[in-house]
Amino acid sequence: MQNIHSLLAAHNDHIAKTTGLYPSFFIRTYGCQMNSRDSEMLAGLLAQLGYRAAESLETADLAVFNTCCVRESAENRIFGHLSRLRHTKETKRPDMLIAVGGCMSQQAEIAEKIAQSHPYINIVFGTANRHRLPEFLWQAIQSGKQVIDITEDDNFPELDTVPVTTRDYPHKAGVNIMYGCDNYCSYCIVPYVRGRERSRPAADILREIEALAADGVREIMLLGQNVNSYGKGLARTNVGDLGHSHTNDIYDFPSLLRRVNQIPGLLRIRFMTSHPKDFSDDLISAVRDSDKVCKSVHLPLQSGSTKVLKDMNRMYTQAEYLSLASRLKSAGIGLSTDIIVGYPGETEEDFEATLEVARQVRFLGAFTFIYSKRSGTPAATRKDLVPRNISAQRFQRLTDTIYPILLEINQAKVGSTLPVMVEEAGGTAVKGRTDDNTLVHFEAEDGRFQPGQVVPVSITLAKSFYICGEVV
Ligand code: 5AD
Ligand code: SF4
Repeated sequence: MQNIHSLLAAHNDHIAKTTGLYPSFFIRTYGCQMNSRDSEMLAGLLAQLGYRAAESLETADLAVFNTCCVRESAENRIFGHLSRLRHTKETKRPDMLIAVGGCMSQQAEIAEKIAQSHPYINIVFGTANRHRLPEFLWQAIQSGKQVIDITEDDNFPELDTVPVTTRDYPHKAGVNIMYGCDNYCSYCIVPYVRGRERSRPAADILREIEALAADGVREIMLLGQNVNSYGKGLARTNVGDLGHSHTNDIYDFPSLLRRVNQIPGLLRIRFMTSHPKDFSDDLISAVRDSDKVCKSVHLPLQSGSTKVLKDMNRMYTQAEYLSLASRLKSAGIGLSTDIIVGYPGETEEDFEATLEVARQVRFLGAFTFIYSKRSGTPAATRKDLVPRNISAQRFQRLTDTIYPILLEINQAKVGSTLPVMVEEAGGTAVKGRTDDNTLVHFEAEDGRFQPGQVVPVSITLAKSFYICGEVV
């Protein structure tokens, strides 16, 4: 493998010597934080091989699509963007290489479709072999032929074993604590494209976070499809680097969170996603008592109807979700959520149960989706589909219920002074986030604040999706 890396690096050196420039790359990322983190790793890998960052897909010598397939709309959008790039390639940039990886291409039928009808795509790779992109690039360059490889490598080196040298933000980073998902919610494609659940040894996670904190990272997002089940199946002898000074006796998420909380330099710790069925009272205490852990958690509801939840294989009832939400609130912890409307068989009464939960919980934020059929999932076989117009109306009614509540929640912040972590500070307009993840806009002299700094802001104005204020 190292050999291929050296060959590709030498090839790029040669290009630089003859043209004066190293070849450039651009990665377009779709979907969740997992994909964003994978893209950072891919960028790091490409940078090590001599590739330099391009300004855009259109100007890159190597265009990489890191794809998502959680809903059909994501796939349609990606194919739309691909065909636009095809036009650029065919009319202006015939030597451009296009590589498509991630969750969408991990599906055999998509890889097949690309092989059949998208000859301008040079490389198709998957989620479980993303670290092999350099090898596929070398094959494509050498052979001039399309390379399609989505083989799942049983003990593929996870992202952490590849140095991440390229991060999207200086002040915040995602850190995978586990991969894959074993929950098999009946609508969801993730377990089929991201594989079985595997937890990383705590020592490896802690070492990675310590290095990030030493590098100036102030906010960490612990990532996994279901972080609450962290540690399940982690062999107690497989504790990572035994020579490392950490204690290696961490096998559950609350213990991990408490330990991450002790890492010097960090100011904020977030995590996603939590599954309600695994949110223990010990985890509530860990969030409440760890000073750096933000007091808002993302807890997908999906549906408020116990019948639909059962059909979705979510393994909790409406009453259990409400009870968990009220225990979290009593501990001073707010909730954001994901909700799907129009799951097959959802009746008006089921949908009203969802509205009822939204009214009771008063979410701090909500991602709302219309059910999208994903082939290969159990729900895809159902015939009792909710008509599209009914789903669209329900979607509208759901956001009409949630957004005014968001506005009320934000209005209640007006007059208070909140600690805001700066995210972007270009010119005098500064953007930041509160502990509960609300977006905050404020003005400051150019260059006064840097991303990662926490600034007290007096809140003067509230909208549904952001608040504005003045530096105190
Ligand atoms: N249709 C609509 N939404 C979906 N999600 C996952 N699968 C589907 C699907 N088939 C939503 C869930 C999940 C979020 C990441 O995407 O709400 O929590
Ligand atoms: Fe999909 Fe359910 Fe796993 Fe989340 S918990 S990734 S919704 S199967």
